[in-house]
Amino acid sequence: MITAFAPGRVNLIGEHTDYNGGLALPFAIDLGVTVEAEPLSDGWIHVEARDIGETDAFPAAAPERADGWRAFVRGTVAELRASGVAVPGARLAFSGDVPLGSGLSSSAALEAALCLALLAVAGADEPDRTELAKLCSRVENDWVGAETGLLDQLASLRSRDGEAIRIDFATLAIDPVPLPLGEWRLVTLESGAEHSHADGGYNERRAECRAACAALGVEHLSAADPDAAAELPAPLDRRARHVLTENARVDAMVAALTAADLPAAGALLDASHASLRDDYEASVPAVEDAVAELKRAGAAGARMVGGGFGGSVLALFPPGAAAPAAARAVAPGPPARRL
Ligand code: GLA
Repeated sequence: MITAFAPGRVNLIGEHTDYNGGLALPFAIDLGVTVEAEPLSDGWIHVEARDIGETDAFPAAAPERADGWRAFVRGTVAELRASGVAVPGARLAFSGDVPLGSGLSSSAALEAALCLALLAVAGADEPDRTELAKLCSRVENDWVGAETGLLDQLASLRSRDGEAIRIDFATLAIDPVPLPLGEWRLVTLESGAEHSHADGGYNERRAECRAACAALGVEHLSAADPDAAAELPAPLDRRARHVLTENARVDAMVAALTAADLPAAGALLDASHASLRDDYEASVPAVEDAVAELKRAGAAGARMVGGGFGGSVLALFPPGAAAPAAARAVAPGPPARRL
């Protein structure tokens, strides 16, 4: 029996920057998705989603389109085969503990764990992990219909145990960044509002960013001149301002962490949230309530994580302040792996 695990992620800062050629600072968490796999000789993939008691079956050589979780499995098999991996028939079963639609990247965890399990079933060598992340992202874009970027897949596949990673999406360069938290703690709190990137505001924001790039004549928004971006018609001017200021906040966060200046890190979380709320307009009332609850409890900073329009809030707590009971401590863990 082959077993593979891939983690979800928390993005410390740098939201909606990945598909804009910008910067982000994620780390993998210890919650994730586990896939069990064994080869079958009939050429079919039989798969069970254990947490919800549902199954699917399709020929490994020719997966057809499907909705919901089935799109992830069929898409991963199809994309692996298109990349030259001879995925054979297999029995698969998966389960996870990343809450779905919570902004902690259950989707990328499923894609990455499926990839590692199916590569092992096929007896294939693991390709370069950045290439694997791109393959997972094609599953999301072309099979699930969510135009997400590469943040979640790179975080799940290339994170570093005990550290965050700074990703530059213009070059895909990845650098480890220490997290000197000492007695401080990072927690996430679910807002209770689930999001869906395939049919929510996420794809709408992507379209706005494309329109802004076309108007400015740049390949991606991170390359935009701030003065020219400020002249864009509303709301494109605000969308561009978020991306440009968020990139600057990522490097300010790297500097704050390098200096172990955790109050400054907290202030940057607050500034990121304000920009996502006011300029990117990616917040919803349930997320605002979660931010307010965390701040009332004494958080030094709090912001929505992931695609927004629901999902979780990340907060940084100083020593001595008690996070709300429903909050979950998060810390950087190792990347996706065979168990
Ligand atoms: C989702 C997407 C990522 C990224 C974030 C926002 O998590 O999957 O690609 O765009 O939203 O930063």
